[in-house]
Amino acid sequence: MRIQVGIVGAGPAGLMLAHLLHQHGIESVVVDTRTRDEIEGTIRAGVLEQTSVDLMTATGIGDRVKQQGQVHHGIELRFGGQGHRIDFADLTGGRGVTIYPQHEVLKDLIAKRLADGGDIRFGVSDVRVEGVGGDSPTIRFTEGGTEQVLHPVLVAGCDGSRSTTRFLVPAPKPRQDHFRQYPFAWFGILAEAPPSSDELIYAHHENGFALVSTRSPTVQRLYLQVDPNDTPTDWPDDRIWQELHTRVSGEGARILEGPIFQKSVLHFRSFVCEPMQYGRLFLAGDAAHTVPPTGAKGMNLAIADVYVLSRAMAEYFAGGETGALDAYTATVLPRVWRAQHFSWWMTSMLHRMPEASGFDLNRQRAELDFVTRSRAGRTLLAENYVGTPLD
Ligand code: PHB
Repeated sequence: MRIQVGIVGAGPAGLMLAHLLHQHGIESVVVDTRTRDEIEGTIRAGVLEQTSVDLMTATGIGDRVKQQGQVHHGIELRFGGQGHRIDFADLTGGRGVTIYPQHEVLKDLIAKRLADGGDIRFGVSDVRVEGVGGDSPTIRFTEGGTEQVLHPVLVAGCDGSRSTTRFLVPAPKPRQDHFRQYPFAWFGILAEAPPSSDELIYAHHENGFALVSTRSPTVQRLYLQVDPNDTPTDWPDDRIWQELHTRVSGEGARILEGPIFQKSVLHFRSFVCEPMQYGRLFLAGDAAHTVPPTGAKGMNLAIADVYVLSRAMAEYFAGGETGALDAYTATVLPRVWRAQHFSWWMTSMLHRMPEASGFDLNRQRAELDFVTRSRAGRTLLAENYVGTPLD
């Protein structure tokens, strides 16, 4: 089957790319080893920058995010028993973020793709991408027991943080050199309870970091910094609530409890694959770079990548121009490294390092104090959190 673009991975990057390409009149095939139910049913975080929401709206998939997304104009940083609001609207000229879970974005994208006659192959196995360094790449996979072969002109590697297409880029910058592991993990729970707070709370405490987030008016998402070797059995419900009350405590703080129906441990790291392309292969989203979740940037970076990539591909198919495709890595990397820095900064400011001394904790306090007291400090956080325009 000859096609214009073959896309590996039906996550935010792959599906958004297929959707944006369609707007340019370019047809693609998306393949994923997961079923549609798995993709739509895996509950993931969702903090959308205004530009991500604007792009969804401008391309006809903005209805549900408008109705169901919660617009937040600030977050709270909590430390030393006190909360400090970072007022995004005031600090960034009225901007904010929209809380709308990633799987809802995926549902919107899948529904629109299918309504537009798009081709998505769910639940395939044995995906192999070959020949991206030459003129005739192939994507092979097994579907319903039969081997299929796609012959795309261009290939997009959108297969997430466990990407295999990433390894088709020969000799990227020494991989270890663009990689950072963190000596802790997040223990995340979903609980049936109304939101404890109107806005997200990022709490620094000597026991470790805690985050109060939300999924819907009846479901809360809460996280605790834990040892990376911890498993859900180390965290019975009582211990979780007690630790949340301890870490998110003090003036004006409350944690509303409710039945916990999901527990998971989230390991995180920072990573950039540079270059993000090789021959006819272009990486986008987590396949190309991974950020810790503290900065809430992951999905927005994926959307920003494919916005640039879709336009470069459109230019290529319109007149054979390769300039924008050649410049893809250079065009998107500054945003990627900005997000890397911001996510690392938020992480290191708010978490307890395993060997932390009194010196480290007091240095963190001094930083948090500056970031919350000084308008310049608050603006630094707010500008990065709400994100920058796509162009
Ligand atoms: C989440 O709701 O899961 C969430 C929110 C903000 C973050 C990370 C995760 O920074």
